[in-house]
Amino acid sequence: MSVVDLDEQARDILVANDRGGYTVPTARLYPYQWNWDSAFCALGFAAFDMDRAWREIETLFEGQWPNGMVPHIIFRRDDPDYFPGPSVWGTGATPPSSGHSQPPVAASIVRRLLDLDPGGEARAKALFPGMLAWHSWFHATRDPDGRGVIATTHPWETGRDNAPEWDGAMARIEPVGVPSYTRRDTGHVDPSMRPTEAEYDRYIYMVQWGREHGWNHTRITREGPFAVSDPGLTFVLLRADRDLLALAERFGDALAVSEISRWIAAAEAGCEALWSAPHNAYVARDQRVETDPVPGVSSVAFLAFYAGLGGGPRDEALLGTLDRVLAAAPYSVPSFDPEAPAFDSRRYWRGPVWAVVNYMIGTGLAEAGHSDRAERIRLDTKRLIETSGFFEYFDPTNGAGCGGNAFSWTAAIWLTWAGREG
Ligand code: DGY
Repeated sequence: MSVVDLDEQARDILVANDRGGYTVPTARLYPYQWNWDSAFCALGFAAFDMDRAWREIETLFEGQWPNGMVPHIIFRRDDPDYFPGPSVWGTGATPPSSGHSQPPVAASIVRRLLDLDPGGEARAKALFPGMLAWHSWFHATRDPDGRGVIATTHPWETGRDNAPEWDGAMARIEPVGVPSYTRRDTGHVDPSMRPTEAEYDRYIYMVQWGREHGWNHTRITREGPFAVSDPGLTFVLLRADRDLLALAERFGDALAVSEISRWIAAAEAGCEALWSAPHNAYVARDQRVETDPVPGVSSVAFLAFYAGLGGGPRDEALLGTLDRVLAAAPYSVPSFDPEAPAFDSRRYWRGPVWAVVNYMIGTGLAEAGHSDRAERIRLDTKRLIETSGFFEYFDPTNGAGCGGNAFSWTAAIWLTWAGREG
């Protein structure tokens, strides 16, 4: 199929998944507004409808909590096709929402929208205080002890639900008191592509724990069942802080400039704690135990370049690891090291390729001057979509589409990056 036809298909997917100012990731499997999905959709809309692109971010911030958090799901209307819905979360938020957040890509995307549409300055400016409050919430509640790295308190907050990095911490959770429930996700897609029952029991247990503790986020980080320093969240936030800093400078907000600069300096130092010499990569660290075996390297390690950490003493080792992973997979970038025992080419975040992660890794590599690797990753993403369509994720061993189809963020990444001519 030609690039022009795929452009049209991608636009049609975004329009079909538009529920009136916000976009669902895909019909049925994910029938609400998801945080980082929504922000990436804005990039896709920007290719053909700038007003709609800004609107997507504005509706996302309609879900912001008074404490600054932007939740990971906004439940605009109840939909029995999805579990767990608003009553399980019990956040009492208006509009109803889940109780934790998701990787904060919005500030980076707002900066990009403004580059594409300088006339949108007033809209970016109106979004600025909300973005600042959200980043502030992340630093205060997910890094309450000032480590300079961001802890996740639920695998869903990382966006990488069943990544092998969480296995050790998940195994230590005893999911007592979880009432029986019916999963909906495995009714929509092949269960071999989704998290296991044991993982779901723990996901729901953690939701209950948050609900029973009044969604007190600092307390959840300090005392809850799960707190793992996540290179994914840490790098995405560091990048978003840099983009927010650029916006603060543009808008002449000196107070914000000094606050954000402090966050950036702390993160640059803190990230060192995530470096693993045996793995030659940044890895997750369980904050609840002294030592925890590292199951291997995930693709978010390579977001270090996107976070602006390139150009330093870690480059050679990290690029060596990237080259090894690229050589091990016909389609890059596998979400988990294909040479590690926990790799599973079809099971969600344990191996499959995700277009949005490729976009961020590729963007970071290109900015750091590693354009050959960036182009390899973009062309792989393009080939995956050309061969298999706009799936949620892809098997890196054979390129097969997995999970949901007609997926919004895959369409968005096609329009903004992967589908470029060449
Ligand atoms: C799901 O329902 O699978 C989502 O990833 C949770 O956010």
